[in-house]
Amino acid sequence: MRKVLVINGPNLNLLGTREKDVYGAVTLADIEAMVNAKAQELSLALDFIQSNHEGVIIDKIHEARGKYDVLIINPGAYTHYSIAIRDAIKAVELPAIEVHLSNIHAREEFRSKSVTAPVCVGQISGFGSFSYILALHAAAGMVK
Ligand code: DQA
Repeated sequence: MRKVLVINGPNLNLLGTREKDVYGAVTLADIEAMVNAKAQELSLALDFIQSNHEGVIIDKIHEARGKYDVLIINPGAYTHYSIAIRDAIKAVELPAIEVHLSNIHAREEFRSKSVTAPVCVGQISGFGSFSYILALHAAAGMVK
């Protein structure tokens, strides 16, 4: 069974209460449940994690090498400036899919720049929690 690691970055633990007008009322636990159900349907083994810490995210990306086939990552605000996370994704040579709940290209100017997307296979942005489901389909298609 193909293995997928879903990594969620800073402040995503606050989904459900955080800027509901932008991110909706869905919690990260809701997303995890949804994603787990879809992973079963697609015959993917899935782990789902969240961290507010750049170094922890980098460690998880490093540890993913040899253990997972695909990374799905919502780096949160790190998307826009973490060269270290970008370098980690590049270094482990795992196919990665970047996801965002909001359309980062339709918000403040500083959000339209992703430093991590260029080292990912692609970016899915703007479909709310469904962005994660789309990413899973992409992961399933990619590993078949
Ligand atoms: C986000 C978009 C980022 O700009 C923001 O900093 C987040 C969430 C999204 O999923 O829409 O924390 O990654």
